[in-house]
Amino acid sequence: MNPVQQQASRPANSQGSAKDRESLSITDNRTGKSYEVPIKDGAIHAVDLRQIKTSADDFGLMTYDPAFNNTAACISRISYIDGDKGILRYRGYPIEALAEKSTYLETAYLILHGELPTKSQLSDWTYHISHHTFIHESIKKFLDGFHYDAHPMGMLISTIAALSTFYPDAKEIFNEESRRKQTYRLIGKMPTLAAFAYRHSLGMPYAYPDNDLSYPGNFLNMLFKTTEMKYRPNPTLEHALDILFILHADHEQNCSASAMRNVGSSHVDPFSATAAATAALYGPLHGGANEEVLRMLMEIGSVSKVPAYIKRVKAGEVRLMGFGHRVYKNYDPRARIVKNVAYGVFDLMGKNPLLEIALECERIALEDDYFVSRKLYPNVDFYTGLIYQSMGFPMTMFPVLFAIPRTSGWIAQWQEMLLDPEQKIARPRQIYLGSDERDYVPVEDRG
Ligand code: CMC
Repeated sequence: MNPVQQQASRPANSQGSAKDRESLSITDNRTGKSYEVPIKDGAIHAVDLRQIKTSADDFGLMTYDPAFNNTAACISRISYIDGDKGILRYRGYPIEALAEKSTYLETAYLILHGELPTKSQLSDWTYHISHHTFIHESIKKFLDGFHYDAHPMGMLISTIAALSTFYPDAKEIFNEESRRKQTYRLIGKMPTLAAFAYRHSLGMPYAYPDNDLSYPGNFLNMLFKTTEMKYRPNPTLEHALDILFILHADHEQNCSASAMRNVGSSHVDPFSATAAATAALYGPLHGGANEEVLRMLMEIGSVSKVPAYIKRVKAGEVRLMGFGHRVYKNYDPRARIVKNVAYGVFDLMGKNPLLEIALECERIALEDDYFVSRKLYPNVDFYTGLIYQSMGFPMTMFPVLFAIPRTSGWIAQWQEMLLDPEQKIARPRQIYLGSDERDYVPVEDRG
């Protein structure tokens, strides 16, 4: 049966009790015709509107939704967010429980497989990830070509894309075994690429992975190891990093996940798609916000200057970075956890002097009508930069610290897209409002 039931001869609400029907009645005032469109899972199918036409050669009605404010582009079973209540769950598990009880690698398994691993699944998974941490020596030559002050996100994006040239088997995207292998490689190698980019910027020799260490512990080893025979990560910092990795593992259809799905929908290999997702994350409105928060706090400079800065924000001159979210219209649950992690790190490393400025920004913003009426609350990026700085990371590494754990989410989103029979190559429509056909004018005749 046709999904749009055209009801030209009778009003759409005349068929029994309209309340009982999971459908939407639409009257096209241009033609006077009425239609009934099925509602499923709280949505109508946009293509159902195409049959609403003014004439046989009319293309049919479209929806206009720049920036996807109200369009679901997929069905997903990975992350759940209730933006009004400030809820985030991965595969049904509350983020608070995972941050308290899980590890990043276990959470990554959950995100990718849909279930928490058994003991043996977890040890197998950990083994495979930690045995794919080494990168081809040629990647080092590639990194050496970058200028000493190259932004590590630029280096990361390029080297992830370069990995596709080392693993041509990654093109076999519909081969489950191949997808599994690329998953190990991507999750395993991201910290290595990130740490090597960091060491390159310092002119320090690269420190190779140590498979005895945990996922965050090995990352700290590759970043900070100097002359010691065996690097022993500080357990507080290792645990803090693991929690931050859990918090950043997935976040449903954000800009970078959408990039991963869109680029992956062309059936390119997952390394190329991950490079695109990483590029999307780099922007200051997305994963680059944590770096921008620190720059903003430094620019403010002191607690006494916060009110003047807030005034500029309200005048529309600048944004309060680390505030606001497309989905959360309440406190970002990740920000609450991050704040607690921050105090643990500050107890060890000393309080970050920018903390007081951040707390004052938050205090004023949460009381100010500009922020309250727009439901602007601190997001995950507001406090992460302070922690990263206290842990010894330069600001340019902050978005990299977001990209590493988000890799598991990207791969899960990519795989879900590939295996979804309803998905095709992403190809939005447009509303063309440009010039109508016109004659070409030779350059000498143009006024
Ligand atoms: N500071 C001041 N005003 C803001 C801010 C902010 N941070 N965020 C939104 N607004 C205002 C905005 O000017 C607009 O006001 P008006 O209605 O008067 O025009 C209103 O709030 C709605 O904003 P929007 O830009 O339409 O909202 P959006 O959903 O398109 O943008 C956002 C979401 C995250 C891009 C935005 O809030 C923002 O730019 N925040 C700062 C950057 C940031 O912290 N990004 C990290 C996001 S969380 C981590 C991640 O997922 O990457």
